[in-house]
Amino acid sequence: MQFTVAIDGPAASGKGTIARALADSFGFAHLDTGLLYRAVAMKGGDPVAAAHSLCAEDLTRGDLRTLAAGEAASRVAAIPELRAALTEFQRDFARREGGAVLDGRDIGTVICPGADVKLFVIASPETRARRRWQEAGAGSYEAVLEQVRTRDARDMERADAPLRPADDAVLLDTTDLSIAEAVAQARALVAARLSR
Ligand code: CDP
Repeated sequence: MQFTVAIDGPAASGKGTIARALADSFGFAHLDTGLLYRAVAMKGGDPVAAAHSLCAEDLTRGDLRTLAAGEAASRVAAIPELRAALTEFQRDFARREGGAVLDGRDIGTVICPGADVKLFVIASPETRARRRWQEAGAGSYEAVLEQVRTRDARDMERADAPLRPADDAVLLDTTDLSIAEAVAQARALVAARLSR
């Protein structure tokens, strides 16, 4: 069975948590596509060459989840040749037998426009900054909020594959939802589509 769930949204909207929970519930494979961009950025050197030579080991670096890696990823992610170099891997992953859930910025619009379920997960910038600031356990909330706003703008305003909801995506605002509530809503959508 092939079944693809595409989850997009800005930083700390909850898309990764929802993607992992759906993968667990339905036995789907999960790909955090942001990790690919983070790994390319942290590899250094020419980013397009880094994308072409990306290997499994690059994805296990300990520093990929830092705020700095997220910031660096959003800079290199604006390079069209780099995005093109990562496209085939993501599409192959999406087509794998047994179902797949991919989360990122352009999954429903560019990578998997035919996905069976598309979710666009949002939350207010203040809520997202608070989540990231608490995860980091250091630094100032104001600085993190500023970073969130800058990264949102960069991701939404780039010419190639900007962050935006696909026309047929379901919007899920997690600002006032607990993780359990957000996951329950996403799970219901997938279950409804699977039972069709
Ligand atoms: O976890 P968080 O939402 O903060 O970031 P991420 O999903 O790991 O993505 C880091 C950066 O990679 C984003 O700000 C985007 O610029 C870029 N990205 C992208 O362009 N396309 C994707 N499918 C995934 C990430």
